[in-house]
Amino acid sequence: MPDRKKVTLPDLVKKMTDGAPITMITCYDYAMAYLVEQAEVDMVLVGDSLGMTMLGYESTLPVTMDDMIRHAQAVRRGTPHAWLIGDMPYMSYQPSVETAIRCAGRFMAEAACDAVKLEGGAEMADRMEGIAKSGIPVMGHLGLTPQSMSALGGFKVQGKDAARAKKIVDDAKALEDAGAYSVLLEMVPDRVCQIITERAGIPIISLGSGPYAHGQLLIFHDMFGLYPRFKPKMAKVYGNAGEVILNGLKQYVAEVTDRQFPQPEHWFGIKDEQLEELRQMLSK
Ligand code: KIV
Repeated sequence: MPDRKKVTLPDLVKKMTDGAPITMITCYDYAMAYLVEQAEVDMVLVGDSLGMTMLGYESTLPVTMDDMIRHAQAVRRGTPHAWLIGDMPYMSYQPSVETAIRCAGRFMAEAACDAVKLEGGAEMADRMEGIAKSGIPVMGHLGLTPQSMSALGGFKVQGKDAARAKKIVDDAKALEDAGAYSVLLEMVPDRVCQIITERAGIPIISLGSGPYAHGQLLIFHDMFGLYPRFKPKMAKVYGNAGEVILNGLKQYVAEVTDRQFPQPEHWFGIKDEQLEELRQMLSK
């Protein structure tokens, strides 16, 4: 992709003002990022969902900053041009503003991220402001926020009644006022997302929150049948790579067992005279 230009914050704002939908996807390693780069996705999130999709944890809570940095570095190597967002893992920003700034800074300095993302509403506005004032673009994340799954009582749509919807609308404004460059809404009803989008001066991105946002996000593993435990309603499956890979693995096991693999094109030989010389050396 030699002539692709680096995606910048003004590019994203221009898409918003032009009414052109922004594309966003999660990504966790070099091979995936290489493909994402070819598809020219605008924004790439190295989500702490990697704890579940890549590391096999039950939730995102065990993910550390070091885990995130290692994966973000690999993704950046695969997609040098996308707007790359490092997802702040559990307890990397909740303890204090200073902790938040230091951890956000690691994403920028060690993984060449363009921005970071953190979960939470008005209660996180001081963290958001501290990071933004340090010169680091920061995205908010409202609605279903997986790091608060225990408090939220499970994987449920958020803001279904007027009072809770009002809280999400207010939180979105609080984050924008605190300096967020964008806000992600996860599993918020479509028309609540529409209200927030209409009031916002920054790009609003939807994950399962309907078509009215400025952009859409999907989780890579959900899109390609790569997460075995569950498939959320909001995830459209664009291809079942999991099935393709499984069939390939079964065929491999069968072919090795039946001595059908490898064939001559899969191995390397040695010239007859070199082999003869080797045999003579070994026989001495
Ligand atoms: O970690 C992640 O992938 C996320 C998305 C669910 C938005 O935060």
